[in-house]
Amino acid sequence: AKSLKTFQGIQFDQCLDDGEKAEQVGKWLLEVSWEVANKVGGIYTVIRSKVPITKKEYGNNYICIGPYNEAFVRTEVEIGESNIGAIRATVREMKRYGIHVVTGNWLIEGYPQVVLFDISSASHRLDSWKGDFFQYAHIGIPYHDREANDAILFGFCVFWFIGTFLEQLKYDEHRYVTAHFHEWLAGVGLVMTRLRGYDCALVFTTHATLLGRYLCAGSTDFYNKLSSAKAGDRQIYHRYCIERAAASCAHVFTTVSKITGIEAEHLLNKRPDILTPNGLSVKQFAALHEFQNLHAQNKEKLNAFLRGHFFGHYDFDLDKTLYFFIAGRYEFTNKGADMFIESLARLNHMLKAVGSDVTIVAFLIFPAPTNNFNVESLRGQSIAKMLRDTVQNVQGEIGKRLYEICLKGHIPNPDQVLKNEDLVELKKCIFASQRSSLPPICTHNVVDDNTDPILCALRRCQLFNNRSDRVKVIFHPEFLRSTSPLLPMDYEEFVRGCHLGVFPSYYEPWGYTPAECTVMGVPSITTNLSGFGCFMEEHVSESNSYGIYVVDRRYKSAEESCQQLTQYMFDFSQLSRRQRIILRNRTERLSELLDWNTLGIYYYKARQLALQRIHPEIDEQMMKISQVFHVSRASSAPSSPGASRSSTPAPTEEDYSEEDYPDEQKTPDIEAKREYHPPPPIEKIPRPQSAVRNPTNSPFKR
Ligand code: UDP
Ligand code: G6P
Ligand code: GLC
Repeated sequence: AKSLKTFQGIQFDQCLDDGEKAEQVGKWLLEVSWEVANKVGGIYTVIRSKVPITKKEYGNNYICIGPYNEAFVRTEVEIGESNIGAIRATVREMKRYGIHVVTGNWLIEGYPQVVLFDISSASHRLDSWKGDFFQYAHIGIPYHDREANDAILFGFCVFWFIGTFLEQLKYDEHRYVTAHFHEWLAGVGLVMTRLRGYDCALVFTTHATLLGRYLCAGSTDFYNKLSSAKAGDRQIYHRYCIERAAASCAHVFTTVSKITGIEAEHLLNKRPDILTPNGLSVKQFAALHEFQNLHAQNKEKLNAFLRGHFFGHYDFDLDKTLYFFIAGRYEFTNKGADMFIESLARLNHMLKAVGSDVTIVAFLIFPAPTNNFNVESLRGQSIAKMLRDTVQNVQGEIGKRLYEICLKGHIPNPDQVLKNEDLVELKKCIFASQRSSLPPICTHNVVDDNTDPILCALRRCQLFNNRSDRVKVIFHPEFLRSTSPLLPMDYEEFVRGCHLGVFPSYYEPWGYTPAECTVMGVPSITTNLSGFGCFMEEHVSESNSYGIYVVDRRYKSAEESCQQLTQYMFDFSQLSRRQRIILRNRTERLSELLDWNTLGIYYYKARQLALQRIHPEIDEQMMKISQVFHVSRASSAPSSPGASRSSTPAPTEEDYSEEDYPDEQKTPDIEAKREYHPPPPIEKIPRPQSAVRNPTNSPFKR
């Protein structure tokens, strides 16, 4: 990279490492999304986690643009004037015409500048903007579609902003502005910017296709009927037109995975120029066993919750209890919640049949409309607390008595130590903790209790938290938060405390949830219909041995996939603690593959390509830069490919080698890896040397 020639007097490779250089050569990046400082789902995670490396490249010239959502801004944004003159002038201009624009810094790692439009302040312009959009793009938007109306308002605010901003930069010596738009909701701005011929490189990334999401949520055999899918009869034709126009107006079009790329080719009639897989900002700990400690600490918090939730029915051993979970936006079939519940019922049956003493507690975390927590769940926690306090008091009293007796040189007699009044106090608590009903399967009062798909499926499969059930279920219809009076943990803590994430998605362009599990060292189940699952299958040999289990939902019937999922969960439930610890170590070793330091290159490439398409003069430099893309193998790969060892049905503890105990090895130079450099190409990671080659799909088959 050091041999690169100069670009505008600055070495281009340095631009990667030093945002100040980008500022000097006039390289700008505007990142436009509905999910900037506005959490909806995975796109928020993409933008938020990507900020640190993007800022390294663009410095102060990196601006995130989103809608103004007061609730989020209050907690996530430090409002203030921009320190960039051109932004201040642009905002001033828009404000002069009555648009409420908020600027400031997003309070996340990287602290990027944000420009947020309060679209309600522009609503009186809706009709005229719709008219303009029709005039330029020939796309009509019906009056009743709230989301499409928002897309128009947001899109025109962005378009207005870009035009004024470019005007402000017009006397700058150099001006290389790229605007990167995410998903159809931001598409209108892109389409207008292109149709008006602004000097701005345009990248469009779609994180799903509208039609794909809609069709999969129905019962259509989507993947076999891709070529005949139509938007017209689904009342989303105009949205589809925005999406399709954005894909075709962009100088560079990208999607997050191969599978969504194929979908886009069929449904949007445009093949992505580049695939931009999603990364994460991987937190690396100085001590490699730290994530194992965090698992133990957070599991203890889940244990505390469980004791309350199952009061009166708490007859299982927490030491032999495993926590499984599914989480995400509430798309019942797309996220595979239907298959998860069906497989849990089968798992319950299998565990009972083999007389297992393991208990599985399965959490389902999907936000749904509720009328707050239910009384039964809250009562459970307060009874557990009351019992804990009473026991603590009694314990204190007993301690004092023991001390007194011993001081006097007597041997304590049990009657002198535990008094009748203590027993009375304890009995009061024990009687209060008896319950006539089963422990609740849901923590909240769900608004549409009778028709809610998860509750209906749990009822149909008779997963009611009976004493005899080895699989217990808890539906938490709200995203997790550390301020919750019931389960006070944030999502990250929760994931760390669990043993297995289960994400049997049917429609999942990428799927951050299993990726997040991986970087936290938590094994997970995904499918070959999710971008993440396919990515792992492609880049990791025998991903099972790393704790990434991929259910085949593409080439198998639903019944077969369900059986496979059940078998994976059953096999996992049979692992010893030591095997689980080893597996977590292996899972965590895949983090580097998912780090933006590795995957950021695709975004970089997409932006450079877009810039090159409107500024062909930087062509030569681009050619040079492309040399940077091939580098050595991923350093997370074990040093030598795994030699095939004799197959035994299940690994014994002797089957693990030193590589499974990273703490005992020489620690790799983590700091060196954290540097942002054009990352290595993604080579296939071989199976762990110590893993037993497995003839079946099942991870640890007995
Ligand atoms: N998530 C969260 N809190 C929860 C459950 C999920 O913040 O209680 C986040 C999770 O961390 C992930 C995102 O929601 O980043 C879901 O993204 P994914 O790509 O899996 O699915 P999407 O919702 O975009 O379809
Ligand atoms: C981590 C901790 C161990 C603990 C283990 C529990 O590895 O470092 O001290 O024993 O978690 O694992 P489990 O899979 O049983 O929750
Ligand atoms: C979308 C997809 C999800 C993906 C996310 C980020 O919301 O549903 O699979 O992970 O975008 O790309």
